[in-house]
Amino acid sequence: MSMAVLPELRWAQLPDAKPLAELEWRSAVYEQRRRPVCRNVQQLIEVWCERIRQKTHSVMLAYLPEELTLVGMLSFAGSIVAGEINALYIEPDYLRQGVGTLLMRTAEQLTVLHGGKRLLVGVEPRNEGGFEFYKALGFIVDGVEPSGLTVMHKEI
Ligand SMILES: CC(C)(COP(=O)(O)OP(=O)(O)OC[C@H]1O[C@@H](n2cnc3c(N)ncnc32)[C@H](O)[C@@H]1OP(=O)(O)O)[C@@H](O)C(=O)NCCC(=O)NCCS
Repeated sequence: MSMAVLPELRWAQLPDAKPLAELEWRSAVYEQRRRPVCRNVQQLIEVWCERIRQKTHSVMLAYLPEELTLVGMLSFAGSIVAGEINALYIEPDYLRQGVGTLLMRTAEQLTVLHGGKRLLVGVEPRNEGGFEFYKALGFIVDGVEPSGLTVMHKEI
């Protein structure tokens, strides 16, 4: 796969909650989500504000430096060492250009640096693209949670 765009990465700060919630809102449709986490984008902004303010999550942003366009995001829930990725969203116009791979590879390296041994993700049952993406990165299926999410992991 050739990298069609070359995004830069940085950690999200509180003012990023709005653009990142809007990105999740636009991108989540590609995930075939069964139930919306939030009724509207405003609620989602508040969710991300809390996660960033309380430092319960570490959120990485991928953006194009020239235009400051946000093209993707990845979030760790809890400590990075646990390797639990609870969100990964790519801007629809930038799909299949390697942005998701760049974020996941970086998350993998960060987890290793923190002493972690595995990455964990939960995939919506109808999210075929998500399964293919994680399989391409070497993840294997563990099983289905009571919530219906399929848990996949990768030893690192
Ligand atoms: C899944 C997702 C993160 C992939 O991001 P991306 O930047 O488009 O992925 P990449 O360009 O890095 O793809 C790497 C490889 O994964 C596989 N892949 C990615 N998307 C795929 C799709 N929709 N269908 C089949 N395979 C796919 C391919 O093998 C691809 O390589 P290729 O393009 O050379 O064929 C993105 O589609 C997305 O944001 N989806 C909506 C939200 C979501 O599903 N998040 C993850 C679930 S928790």
